[in-house]
Amino acid sequence: MKTGLNPFVYNHPIDPPDLIDRDAESQMLATLAQEGNHARLTAPRRYGKTSLLRKVLADCDRLGMPTAYVDFFGIQTAADVVHRLDGGYRASFHGPFRKFAEALIRSIQPQVSFSAEGATISMGISRDDRQSLDRLQTLLDLPVKLFEKTGVRAVIAFDEFQSLLGAGPNLDGFLRSRIQAQTKEATYLFAGSHPGMMRELFSNRERPLFGQARPVVLGPLADADLYLYIAEHFELTGKDSGSALGRLLDVVVGHPQRAMLMANRVWDETEPGAVADEEVFVRALDGVIADHAEAFESEWRRLNVSDRRLVSALATGVGPFSAEAKSRFGIAPGSVEASRRRLLDDGVIADAGGGRTSYLVDPLFGIWVRSLLG
Ligand SMILES: Nc1ncnc2c1ncn2[C@@H]1O[C@H](COP(=O)(O)OP(=O)(O)OP(=O)(O)O)[C@@H](O)[C@H]1O
Ligand SMILES: [Mg+2]
Repeated sequence: MKTGLNPFVYNHPIDPPDLIDRDAESQMLATLAQEGNHARLTAPRRYGKTSLLRKVLADCDRLGMPTAYVDFFGIQTAADVVHRLDGGYRASFHGPFRKFAEALIRSIQPQVSFSAEGATISMGISRDDRQSLDRLQTLLDLPVKLFEKTGVRAVIAFDEFQSLLGAGPNLDGFLRSRIQAQTKEATYLFAGSHPGMMRELFSNRERPLFGQARPVVLGPLADADLYLYIAEHFELTGKDSGSALGRLLDVVVGHPQRAMLMANRVWDETEPGAVADEEVFVRALDGVIADHAEAFESEWRRLNVSDRRLVSALATGVGPFSAEAKSRFGIAPGSVEASRRRLLDDGVIADAGGGRTSYLVDPLFGIWVRSLLG
């Protein structure tokens, strides 16, 4: 590890060796994949879903299974689904499976190619839905063809899967019709960053994928694991995380990305060879909050009045049904449940479980809201 380089990554999915903990979850997902049980990762935003999917795929690769990763972020039409599947499958299926997958994709006509500028263009594919669906069907059936050649079950990860809901009516029904016959040929892992839409896809009895994938929950990271990782990476790069680390852990309450973001900033604020103290921590926190002020403000503006009130109560630790919630924030007890549902669906809050009140997913947003309230 290079001394002068910040070791904490916070703005993109991380490589499997850098993953803190998540052993139980990755083992469970790899086992489900081998057994042929589809799974869906349920977790708040930025809890490490994509990073974990990549680790599970790498583990399955090592077990000798063909693997593929497809990111559906931002898709808007059935044709987009086709492009993403095509691109994802072309970049996947490593090792001995590569040549079979490549040949199969190439045999599917018409071909998709990319313009010189990197913008996707389609050659010979009309945007007509029928054609898109034909091609979608062929791509979705690729694991079946691969199995005919290799006799090995494939593991396919669909990330940002909730985007499918906005890409065309009944695409989830179409998907189900293709994958339900692939009992020996493929296991699917689904992940998404919008809890409400993922719930709609998999937990609404009316929808085709209802009950089709085992939920695997990703919770916050344990303080002890974060402590060891952060302290060690400070040491390896010639710095001491000192008393700042305790403060950091208290603030981020196990949120994986927020922990790495704060660790990154505290590291930046610490001189080479020096110890990170209270003062360093405060400087780092103020800097991060200032950097995110615009994003927090637009998140706040998106909320309606009653949702803002509930967020304010949760940010300040005031019970939503208490007299203080009513007097200080004007919360009408009758509106709490509707707000709670909306905020849960949007991933702004999460359920603590066990009858405890919900909590704000992003602890830094909570700090910003508190500063707004004065
Ligand atoms: N287990 C972990 N160990 C260390 N850092 C983690 C872990 N999980 C997540 N992170 C941190 O969170 C960041 C985001 O991870 P990732 O992109 O995998 O999350 P995500 O849940 O897919 O996010 P999104 O909801 O935006 O799709 C990483 O850059 C890293 O800083
Ligand atoms: Mg992700």
